[in-house]
Amino acid sequence: MKLKVFIVALVVVFISSCGGEEKKSDKAVEPKVETKEVVEVDPMQDKGIGPITSVILGEIDEAMVAEGEVVFKAKCSACHKISKRFVGPGLAGITERRTPEWIMNMILNPEVMVVENEIAKKLLAEYLAPMANQSLTEKEARQILEYFRTKKAK
Ligand code: HEC
Repeated sequence: MKLKVFIVALVVVFISSCGGEEKKSDKAVEPKVETKEVVEVDPMQDKGIGPITSVILGEIDEAMVAEGEVVFKAKCSACHKISKRFVGPGLAGITERRTPEWIMNMILNPEVMVVENEIAKKLLAEYLAPMANQSLTEKEARQILEYFRTKKAK
């Protein structure tokens, strides 16, 4: 996970009084410094939290895609559609906006992800219902990932 931290320092101009007749304070006003921190998470650097630390992708494996589609229809379609938002987010293009590891950890370890991972926390705040742990094996989660790879965003 890579954090980009931008420090923005705003220096407020100090005003000096031009020697008028009215005796205002002739001391220069102390410059005010305000610091603001913006933390940005690049989703394509975020592997999430869970059992999956590294996934190596090769050419699309059609057999795995077919198995993944079966598991997806059985275990995920109650809440997800590919093309649009349902109980959970639409999943077209998911492999273009999340890392393979993050996707598999979200499938295998959603309870921890929605509490500890910044992206998943935001999703829970938006969708309100938590993502269910469907007790998939790592192999099934990998098959679903392969299926998702064939569902690009238009
Ligand atoms: C009970 C409903 C439910 C089921 C079943 C479910 N999900 Fe989810 N899923 C959600 C919700 C709701 C979210 C949004 C995050 C949250 O609110 O926790 C989500 C988020 C996700 C995300 C992240 C989407 C994004 O835009 O980053 C992925 C990937 C995902 N689910 C895949 C799956 C897969 C694969 C299955 C089947 C194994 C599955 N989900 C089963 C409800 C569900």
